[in-house]
Parts: sequence; C-alpha cells; structure tokens
Amino acid sequence: MPKKINKIAVLTSGGDAPGMNAAIRAVVRRALGLGMKVVGIEKGYQGLLNEEMYDMDARSVADSIHRGGTILRTARSAEFKEEAGKKKGAEILKKRGIEGLVVIGGDGSYKGALGLSKHDIGVVCLPGTIDLDIACTDYTIGFDTAINTAMEAIDKVRDTSSSHERCSIIEVMGRNAGYIALWCGVATGAEDILIPEKYDYNEQEIINHIIESRKIGKTHHLIINAEGIGHSTSMARRIEAATGMEARATILGYMQRGGSPTCKDRFYASIMGAYAADLLNEGKINRVIGHLGGDFKDFDIDEALAMQKDLPDYYYQVSRALSRSAINANRVAK
Ligand code: F6P
Repeated sequence: MPKKINKIAVLTSGGDAPGMNAAIRAVVRRALGLGMKVVGIEKGYQGLLNEEMYDMDARSVADSIHRGGTILRTARSAEFKEEAGKKKGAEILKKRGIEGLVVIGGDGSYKGALGLSKHDIGVVCLPGTIDLDIACTDYTIGFDTAINTAMEAIDKVRDTSSSHERCSIIEVMGRNAGYIALWCGVATGAEDILIPEKYDYNEQEIINHIIESRKIGKTHHLIINAEGIGHSTSMARRIEAATGMEARATILGYMQRGGSPTCKDRFYASIMGAYAADLLNEGKINRVIGHLGGDFKDFDIDEALAMQKDLPDYYYQVSRALSRSAINANRVAK
C-alpha cells in the first residue's frame, strides 16, 4: 500500500515558459481538492535551499492562468547541482512536513528531482520548456506559445525583408534542439531552415540556393537559424559578400519565452498539473508526466531520462521539398 501524502510543494525551475502558471494553478487546486496541503516554493531549487516558500490556497493562483512567466519565479541553481545541495533540500522539505514535490521544468530539473527522490522525497515532474527537447513527450509546456510568438515576429521581419529585397536570417531559441526553428520555418515558408540535428555547415549550398532563387525571380530569402547553430550576424555578412544580396540578421531572443499562453498551453498544462496532484495523492512517486501518442502518460524518472528523442526526418524532408520546389521545377523544365 503506497504511503498517503498529506503535504506537497510545487516549484518551477530553469527557463520560464508560458503555461507554467496554468500548471501551478492546476497542481494547487487539484491537490487542495484532494485534501492535501500545498506549499509554493519560489525561485526553483535555489529558493528551496533559501527556504523561500509559502502556504498556498485556492486564491494564491487566482488571476494567473492567462499570464506569461511563472508566479513562483524561477532560477538555475549551481548549489543544488551538488549532492550536498540535494541533501540539504530534502532535509528542508522533511523539516516542514513536505513529502511530495511537483517540479515544472526541463530535463535538467528532472535530474535535480531524481536527486531529491534518493533522499525519500516523492517527486513528480512536468515538462516545462519552450524547446520541446524532452524525450518522453511530444508536447512541452510553452512550446506552442513560443512558436506562435516567433512565427508572428518572423512574418513581420519577412514584410520588410520583402520590401527591401533582402536576405533575412532570423535566429530562434531552442538550445541544442531545432524544433522551434523547424516549426516556425515551415509555418513561415522559409527558404532555408538550419537546425543542429540536420545542418551540415555547407554554407555554399545556401549561397547557391539564393543565387538560383534570384534567377527564377525570387526577390527575398528567409533563413530560420536555430540558436544551437548561432552565428547569424557573421553568416549574414558572408552571405551578403558571396551573393551581392543585402543580408540582415535578427535574433529574436527572450521575447519568445514571454507573453500570454495559447489555449493549447493553458489546457495541456492544466491537465498535466492535475495529473501530477493525482499521482502524488495515489502515492505514485518519482514520475515524469508526458503526452505521447495522443494520451497523457507517466514514466519513471530514470526511464524518462534514458529515452532518446529524434526529430522526425520526414518533417525536415518536407520542409526542404517545399522550399526548393520552384527551383526544382525550373531545372526539370530546362
Ligand atoms: O530552455 C529554454 C531556453 O530559452 C533556451 O531556448 C535557451 O537556450 C535558454 O533557455 C536560455 O537560458 P537563460 O534564460 O539561462 O539565458
């Protein structure tokens, strides 16, 4: 019989992501409804070590579901990465009678949660990152908002790029993953999409693409470059020198992490937050919640951290085919 958990805490860790507030709100309200007490820990694991926490009631999360960022604030903690930090964190939680913890963050945060679980804290993790780079899930809280924010910004840059007949290189976030770049690149009709999973660093191929595109009457060229490749400004200089086409780099940066969450992020985060409270209530601990194959599921943390994620090759092939079809048709016609 799993041990009944009476008091839990919730924290957000790592980079913030739109939808985290919906997740916090659902954890708090579902857990209270199940008869548990809930503590909010501010500023992630660092806040835990500094004992920055408060008791939460249903009103603590009022008026938050539509807000970007995280009402609990977030941080990255070097101290907590050490074993001594994890031990201290677990002792603080035990001292306050907290038996379970919901961690909302990326897979770096999961490693911290795994460390706490070794000191008898029951943990449940939710995928909170705009990067979509967590293997056990095809959805992460914040990705949908981030790609829509980036897409709107790219559309705007595209307007001016078109007026000035320029090449625009737009760099999007994603750390070492290319999901934001690929989705936004396809959705904005980019001519080239450079992602760490696929890019072969053959800049000459891009230059040739620009030259051939101009021959068939294209007057501007949009390149979406993933943060994991970077160097957009120097790339713009080289492309301008090699093609004679004016080139400009735009790095979208942190605006991609802000803003009011989309309906999908609010909805999925709400379901996942409630699911986390349900797991703890059932005494089902050391789990990571994901959304795979159309369903919300939970995995053992070790299992989740060992899983590999591959960006679907077909998506990338389609993006290449769509952006090169006019040139290819021109070649065939000749
Ligand atoms: O993980 C989300 C993310 O925004 C990445 O896309 C980016 O590489 C990183 O966080 C930036 O982190 P920081 O807020 O520490 O600069």
